Amino acid sequence: MEWSVEERGAIEVWTIDGEARRNSITRAMLADLLARLRRAEENRHLRCVVITGAGTRAFCAGADLKERARMSEADVHEFHRDLRAALRGIELSPKVFLAAINGAALGGGLELALACDLRVMSSAAEVGLPEVGLGIIPGGGATQRLARAIGVARAKDLVLTARRIDAIEALAYGLVTRAAPPEELREAAVEMASEVARNAPISLRQAKRAIDGGFHLPLEEALDLENRLYQDCLKTRDRIEALQAFAEKRKPTFTGE
Ligand code: COA
Repeated sequence: MEWSVEERGAIEVWTIDGEARRNSITRAMLADLLARLRRAEENRHLRCVVITGAGTRAFCAGADLKERARMSEADVHEFHRDLRAALRGIELSPKVFLAAINGAALGGGLELALACDLRVMSSAAEVGLPEVGLGIIPGGGATQRLARAIGVARAKDLVLTARRIDAIEALAYGLVTRAAPPEELREAAVEMASEVARNAPISLRQAKRAIDGGFHLPLEEALDLENRLYQDCLKTRDRIEALQAFAEKRKPTFTGE
């Protein structure tokens, strides 16, 4: 088992099950992630996925450097292709993904967290992109996703120095939006996921698409995109249910229709 999965109603917690290797990314772990992403898309009951790592030392220490040393050039290309596909898969998924950064998130580990929609971090964890110190650059999207998430100047500060930052700095940078003591992180993440999961599934999907898809469009086009995604919500049963629930002073029961 490359990942261990806990189902909690509309939430699933996916834990990278590789504490001894600091949850680093192996080929098998990536293949399993790609398969899980495909299944998640078809799971109508699932609304939010929490991604975390086993133990408290690491969320994910990037690529498994021991496996990498045994890989051929073709293997490395295949790994890189699968990593890019998995991270894009998270980003394009109709489900909401939340990274619970329980320990060090370095290189590909931080890139995994950056592909998620939300990030919450242990107050004892550190994150960073060590690649330029290793003769490469981040290749799993961090040069692009980090700049989009926290701005070009701050992204360059992190990428070009290859330094690690703690939760206080990560919060100040807006790289994560919440932090919690290590022993409370998992529950804090599940609580945040519950805040997401109680909302209408189609609305969650459309809101994610509107924000991600509109961010770099000219404003007119971005507003048109939002409008199209908004109009789709008007046709849903869940919108009627929300109006009825309001009138009846009860919580809505959303079905994703
Ligand atoms: N790939 C494979 N194994 C890794 C690994 C990686 N990326 N990162 C750590 N490990 C292994 C270590 O080799 C060690 O194995 P061993 O017990 O067989 O010697 C084990 O995990 C524990 O590592 P250690 O450094 O003692 O753990 P730590 O808890 O003190 O520190 C990290 C954890 C993640 C901060 C530290 O391991 C680290 O900096 N790793 C390198 C991260 C990195 O540069 N990744 C590449 C990004 S491009």
